[in-house]
Amino acid sequence: MQKSDMLNHARTVLRDNDRGTYTVPTHGLYPFQWNWDSALSALGFSHFDEARAWTEIDTLMAHQWDDGMVPHIIFHEPDDGYFPGPDVWGTDRPTPTSGITQPPVAGFAVRRIHDRATDRDLADRMARTLVPKIHAWHQWFYRCRDPQGTGLVALLHPWESGRDNSADWDEAFARVPTDGVGTFTRRDTTHANPAHRPTDDQYKRYIWLVQKFRSLDWDNRKLHDASPFQVVDPGFNAILIRSCADLADLAEVLNLPDIATQSRALADKALAAMDTLWSDAAGQYLCLDRRLGALVPSLSIGGILAAFAPLPLNRVQALSARIETLAQSCTYLVPSHDPTTPEFEGLRYWRGPVWLIVNYMIADGLIRAGEGAMAERIMQDCARLIVKSGFAEYHDPITAEPCGGAHFTWTAAMIIEIFSTRDLVS
Ligand code: GLC
Repeated sequence: MQKSDMLNHARTVLRDNDRGTYTVPTHGLYPFQWNWDSALSALGFSHFDEARAWTEIDTLMAHQWDDGMVPHIIFHEPDDGYFPGPDVWGTDRPTPTSGITQPPVAGFAVRRIHDRATDRDLADRMARTLVPKIHAWHQWFYRCRDPQGTGLVALLHPWESGRDNSADWDEAFARVPTDGVGTFTRRDTTHANPAHRPTDDQYKRYIWLVQKFRSLDWDNRKLHDASPFQVVDPGFNAILIRSCADLADLAEVLNLPDIATQSRALADKALAAMDTLWSDAAGQYLCLDRRLGALVPSLSIGGILAAFAPLPLNRVQALSARIETLAQSCTYLVPSHDPTTPEFEGLRYWRGPVWLIVNYMIADGLIRAGEGAMAERIMQDCARLIVKSGFAEYHDPITAEPCGGAHFTWTAAMIIEIFSTRDLVS
């Protein structure tokens, strides 16, 4: 496939999933706006329609809560093809939203789109509107998800991580009860192969947490301490740190000195704290179970995605070596879970498959640290996967089998983002 064919196809995916002011991840399986999907998809739009890219993030931020939280789903239009819908969340918003958040990659995306914008006036205007809102979201994280001031934020629901069913959560998630959840009908398994999706037992626990938080009126001053699930994910924290650091840079350019100083301070404190998640034995970062006060010995991609943060170079070099080791047990980098471990499942969502968005963020961090050869290898693997199996939601790292939803927005956006500046892909 030629570069132009691949890019044209990717643009078609974005256009088909465009609902005017927001994009759905894919038709059917995910019929609303998702938080980090939107931020990453905007990167794809920005290569051929800058105004549309800005609108994507502007729509997301228009649904920010008064306390600063930006929800993980915005239910713009009713659609009963998805569970749990607005009636389960009960967040009482003008436009219904979920009540939890997702990886805050918008700060990074806004800076990147602003940096390379050709319409400078539009870029400055949009960035000036968005930067204070994104900053308020970052401050919300450290206030509500790190009440002890450790420098690292906890996830209170696996869906917040964006890596919904990762093995990282298994132990902490087992402490979440299922009593009182009642019966419900999942919709995801009617759109995608159940063998690729989370289990029914996991779904009951997902819903228990939603009901718990709803019973506390979604008051974020109470949720952290009330949650039986409090996990500190290095990948998630790395995204937050990167976005804080990028927002600091962008705020300087825009002459917003207070935001610049505050963002830099948040990033610096968090970067220092990240080292408490490093494991020499694993050769990567690990999650921390905050309830137990112990690292989680689960070899997932969360500890490698950490490379997206401006970490010390020796740490990124060690992560590059770790990816080299993973390459020995798969065909396509980077598997979302180590294929040599018993938890690995090549087709099941975040327990093994490759996700292009994660590959992109890892590659970006590797380039910054001078690990360009590994970054290039990862990006070429992205192209090989798409050429072989199309714009799927995720792919088996050994067979390239396409999994989950097809015609997927952020997969296409990443191909545009990665290959807009490269030559032929094969
Ligand atoms: C799944 C993914 C999540 C993503 C959403 C929409 O829930 O795990 O990361 O945001 O789908 O694509």
